[in-house]
Formats: sequence, structure tokens, C-alpha cells
Amino acid sequence: MRLSDEEKAMRDGRDGAAVARAMDLLIRYGEALGAEDFVETRNVCGTVTATTPFMRDFAVRQGGLDAVFSEFNLDSAEIVTPPRVKVFASHLQLGFDPHHPAEMGVSEEIVQFYRRSETMAARMGVQMMNTCTPYQLGNVPVFGEHCAWMESSAVVYINSVLGARTNAEGRESTSAAMLTGRIPNWGYHHDGPRRATQGVELATPVETVEDWGLLGYWLGDWVQDRVPAVRGLTRRPDLPRLKHFGAAASSSGGIEMYHLVGVTPEAPTWEAAFGGRAPQEVRRYGAAERAATLERLNAMASDRKVDYVMLGCPHYTIEQIGEAAALLEGRHVHADCALWLWTPRAIKDLSVRNGSAAVIEAAGGRIFTDSCSAMSRAVPAGTKVVACDSAKQAHYLPAILGLQAWFGTTSQCIDAACTGTWRA
Ligand code: F3S
Repeated sequence: MRLSDEEKAMRDGRDGAAVARAMDLLIRYGEALGAEDFVETRNVCGTVTATTPFMRDFAVRQGGLDAVFSEFNLDSAEIVTPPRVKVFASHLQLGFDPHHPAEMGVSEEIVQFYRRSETMAARMGVQMMNTCTPYQLGNVPVFGEHCAWMESSAVVYINSVLGARTNAEGRESTSAAMLTGRIPNWGYHHDGPRRATQGVELATPVETVEDWGLLGYWLGDWVQDRVPAVRGLTRRPDLPRLKHFGAAASSSGGIEMYHLVGVTPEAPTWEAAFGGRAPQEVRRYGAAERAATLERLNAMASDRKVDYVMLGCPHYTIEQIGEAAALLEGRHVHADCALWLWTPRAIKDLSVRNGSAAVIEAAGGRIFTDSCSAMSRAVPAGTKVVACDSAKQAHYLPAILGLQAWFGTTSQCIDAACTGTWRA
């Protein structure tokens, strides 16, 4: 790879051993990808903390959190001490909610281990947002900004909705990017790969959050990791709809970039989305495709008795928490069912202040933060059947935990929580 003088100096140890190991990792990574050089980034979103028993045991054997960071974040056998990050960096979701270890099936010892690594990360200057939706908490990259982000639903959101530029990075590359302000210059940092190749003509209204989840799930299944453009919208989507759409598209497929004509910044027109080239293929999405997708998402479920209702994938917005609270007003969660909502800590705080949390808790629901059921593999004890309003969670929970999953609207999910039955 071609290195600037600054990059050579970091590689050669000017800024200390950890930065040198980070540059070494990024050079190896860039060469493997075929990148010719680096882009500068000032916005990194990744995972720094240690949360697993395996990491705890590694720390005990090898010499503490510096050893864990060196091995798991920098792929370095040499133990280095992580310095302060060079650029703005925020932390993604965790493998559990540290405020509720019993429900997460996590020992107090692991929580304490995590807390020590959280202190280390905060000392490094990493903002502990602990969410898959950092764009809800003020990490909002601007149009054209080169970023280094992990988490498929966040990657597709900032590429497609904000017009920022990132590939789907990993724990190691984002950690190295935090220490250097560099990431290999390839893929979605370039104009060409951002252009659409596949087209979709909408032939049915796509309006509700459920509609957007279904469209995303159908689209990801078809295009996999190619870039689609969609036209024919009847209504402009908002943040919750776009959040659900991208998360669904990146779970049934590997979509990291899409264009909604007239909505997303690089698609003012159909022609612009394709960069002036003809689409390789155009498909129609109508009522039949919607119905088939709904049926497919619910294919793993047969028992109507629901044990657990999971809301908040991707992490709920304050507006969605308010909607759930309104649906719960005057009702109570069924004795044989549990209702758990997932959201960032900062948004939970807001829901406490605006009264939504009290309504949800009075009805028997609970609000968790920092993680989700798929990430933490945590569901209420004895759960066999789950209901959710997220196509992504309905995709993963049967695969990860062997649960039956019903997918539907938020209202249908709240009804299931209050009756213990999937009546949709
Ligand atoms: Fe977020 Fe978990 Fe869904 S991390 S996108 S809530 S699978």
C-alpha cells in the first residue's frame, strides 16, 4: 500500500507501540483487500470492551486488559497499552445489558470484568453509547464523510440515509482506525461500488414500519450484497421506518448500501442511482411479494401461545417507546408472557423523564439497554415462542436460540403481550 509520511511515522512507532501495531494491522488488512492506500476518517464506531468469559480467562492468563486489547482488538501478540483515540469514536451494543445480569444469564464476575474494560474504553476517549443506533445519540456523520463503522444495520443506515461512506468493518479494523484515523480505501469509500445495479418498482404502498421491514427482508433476500435502487414510494419514510428497512435488508441479505429514489442523498433520480448505467435487472414488489414475505417470516411459528414479546430491534427510538406506552395504557402484560423493550441508555433516560417508562413498567413491561435478545442470547426463562415487530430479530431468534418467532406490527405484538396469544 502507498503510505503517506504521516502513516509511515505511525507505522514506525512515532506515536507509540499501540499505534504502530494498529498501522501494521491496517496495512495487512488493506493489502488483503487490494486497497492501494488509506482514507482519513474522523468517525469510528466499533467494539472495544471485553464481555466474555473467554476474554476474562485470557486476561487472567496473559496479563490483564492490555493483553485482551492487544490480542482481540489489534491482533497483536505483543502486549501494548491502548492510548487515547485519535478521532471521534463511539461504542456499539454489548453482548448483554450490564444493569440486569440475572436476566442476561451473566455472572456478577463477568459484569465486573466488563465494567473494568468500560473504564478503560472511556479513558481512551471512546463514547460509551452502547447501541446499534449511534445516529440516534448524536453520532450523525455528514454527507460524503469517510467513516469506519461496524454493525450491519448502522452501516447500511449511514451509507444510504446519510450518504456517509463506510464498509462493514470489524472489531479489529475499527479499533485500529480509532488509534490512527485511517481505514483502507476500498469498497463503499469509492463512487463506483455505491451505484445501484438492481432495480425495484414498487407496486404496493409501503407505509408502516411493518411494510418497510417486509420490503427490506424481501429485497435483501433477492439482491444479497449488491446495491439496489427502489422507486415508486407513496410516502416518504422516517427514521424508524428506514432503520427497520435497512436492518431487515442486511439480515436476509448483505445489503450495505441502497437507494430510495427521491429520498436517499445519492438518488435524486433513478438514473442518478445507477450512475447513468442500465440496471442489470428490475423486479416488481407488489402485494403478492409482500404477502409471501410475511408468510416466510412467520413460517417458523405454529404455537399461538406467546411466551415473550421483544421490541426494539434496531434499538427503539423515543417515539417508538411512546407508541408502545400508548398501546399499553390501561392494559397489563399477561401473567404467562413477558414484554422486554430494548433501547440505548440515553433514550431510556428520556423515556423515564417523559413518563413512557412508567406506563410500560406499570403494565408489566421492562426496558433494557445496551444489547438485545439476539446479541445477548437472553430471553425470559422458559421462552419457546417469541413475537416481535422486527424482521431482523424474527430472522435471527429462530436460528440462534431455536425459538418460534411471530413477526407483525407493534400493535399486534403488544396485543400478544397482553393476551399471551398471537391473534394476528
Ligand atoms: Fe440492534 Fe440487536 Fe437488532 S444489536 S439491530 S437490536 S439484532
